[in-house]
Amino acid sequence: MKGVILAGGSGTRLHPLTKITSKQLLPVFDKPMIYYPLTTLILAGVSEVLIITRPEDSSSFERLLGDGSDFGIEITYSIQEKPAGLAQAPLIAERFLNGEGFCLILGDNFLYGSGLGRKLQNLTNIQGSTIFAYNVSDPTQYGVVEVDSSGHALSIEEKPKVPKSDLAIPGLYFFDSEIIDICKKLNPSARGELEITDALKEYMRRGSLKVEILPIGTAWLDMGSFESLLEAGEFVHIVQSRQGILIGDPLTAMKTRSKTN
Ligand code: TTP
Repeated sequence: MKGVILAGGSGTRLHPLTKITSKQLLPVFDKPMIYYPLTTLILAGVSEVLIITRPEDSSSFERLLGDGSDFGIEITYSIQEKPAGLAQAPLIAERFLNGEGFCLILGDNFLYGSGLGRKLQNLTNIQGSTIFAYNVSDPTQYGVVEVDSSGHALSIEEKPKVPKSDLAIPGLYFFDSEIIDICKKLNPSARGELEITDALKEYMRRGSLKVEILPIGTAWLDMGSFESLLEAGEFVHIVQSRQGILIGDPLTAMKTRSKTN
């Protein structure tokens, strides 16, 4: 399975740090942020990864991760010239994907939970799209999905004032090859971006948008604000020191994957 990490963006909530470096290279306790989504992809069974960055950050990511051989995977890089939206990622990745389905993860998403790797590995032969849903106390800050009893999406709204559910959509998506045509037909939103929610709505219209609710006890944080960056670092520190394990370490994840397969 192929995976794409979208690691560009303007990172305005983390100014002035993101004026001189990429958000996804900032430390989250003892590792650069990108290690965490990269580890999620490795646990999902991904062996070929494309990392999309801002033009000015590309060489730093390459210095950090190289061709991926240190972790037993293949890593290549592409550039997003301007932060023109999440739905640009499949278009930038079109050649890399070569007509295959894939997993897209946002570079600032932290996911950790028992059984997550196995759950993701089950999505290898994706048809349509599968997204995840996470119960939150204040859904108004997120993309929110409403789900029927068979796990299909009924509605999707971006930062709704009156949410139809408490289920936020984390930045982890599985798509079949249809995503390319869908994104090519999207128009920029009022804020001038190609919106991933518009692509998801098209899958929903076709009846092929499935939603998996993440179990209680799973940790999901987007690390894009100073508060959530600190919280993620504290979480990693606490779990690592209490349990004597490494979270978000690509090499450890690869060893775990080799043992379970
Ligand atoms: P956001 O957190 O929505 O945007 P941002 O990173 O620019 O930060 P801010 O809101 O503080 O200005 O982006 C979510 C993730 O997607 C993050 O990892 C950056 C990435 N991203 C891109 O790579 N390209 C884009 O065009 C956008 C909008 C986001």
